[in-house]
Amino acid sequence: MSYQPDQLIVATDATQLIEDVANNIVSYAQSCVDKHQQFNIALAGGSTPASLYQALTNKPMPWHACHFYFGDERMVAHDHLDSNYAMARRTLFDHAPIAADNIHPIPTDCDDPRQCAAQYAQQLDITQGMDLVLLGIGTDGHTASLFPDTDILDKTDSNAAACYVEKLGAWRISMTYPFINKSKQVIILIQGKGKREIVDAILNQEHTSQYPVTKVRPAGELIWHLDEAAIK
Ligand code: 6PG
Repeated sequence: MSYQPDQLIVATDATQLIEDVANNIVSYAQSCVDKHQQFNIALAGGSTPASLYQALTNKPMPWHACHFYFGDERMVAHDHLDSNYAMARRTLFDHAPIAADNIHPIPTDCDDPRQCAAQYAQQLDITQGMDLVLLGIGTDGHTASLFPDTDILDKTDSNAAACYVEKLGAWRISMTYPFINKSKQVIILIQGKGKREIVDAILNQEHTSQYPVTKVRPAGELIWHLDEAAIK
């Protein structure tokens, strides 16, 4: 049986996609704050979410009650061009009234990435899990820094872990499946024709277990938001 999210929402173009997701996040954040006075969100890295974060800065988010975590991080300084934290800072944190204590970057200043991952796992341990985990998808079916054929895919004893990704020649730190799958909601944001092949493979192939994103099965809702360019 092929992989199916709970909801598959297709927007006509990238602008509509970002608008849809931003509006959904605002209303969901508000309902979380109404219910438990806080909204814990894990941001995705990469390039796709940048325009979403910019769009959010013009929306009525309950900023005072939002806590920002990260699904994954590259093992670089927080001011490095490749840093997911740097991207979120450039597009979101520097343009919205967010208290510094409400931003929880993944530490990357340890000699050993596993040390930083353990520190981050401790931070995640004290949360009740995320209200929302925002993820992207790579053309190989990775999500966060859960890449095919890496040992982090089997990590079940901690909420975050470090992993050396051979194909990138780099260390990554990522939330693990157990933590992601504890979330109340997961949104997977997919944009552009470059993702058409992997989207088609995941939604239409019989066997999809080789694609790490297919093991994201949250306790809550799994929503795929795509534009038409990303789906055949
Ligand atoms: C990262 C991300 C990664 C990303 C996908 C898609 O740190 O790179 O967390 O999982 O979401 O690689 O990236 P794009 O949005 O750039 O296509």
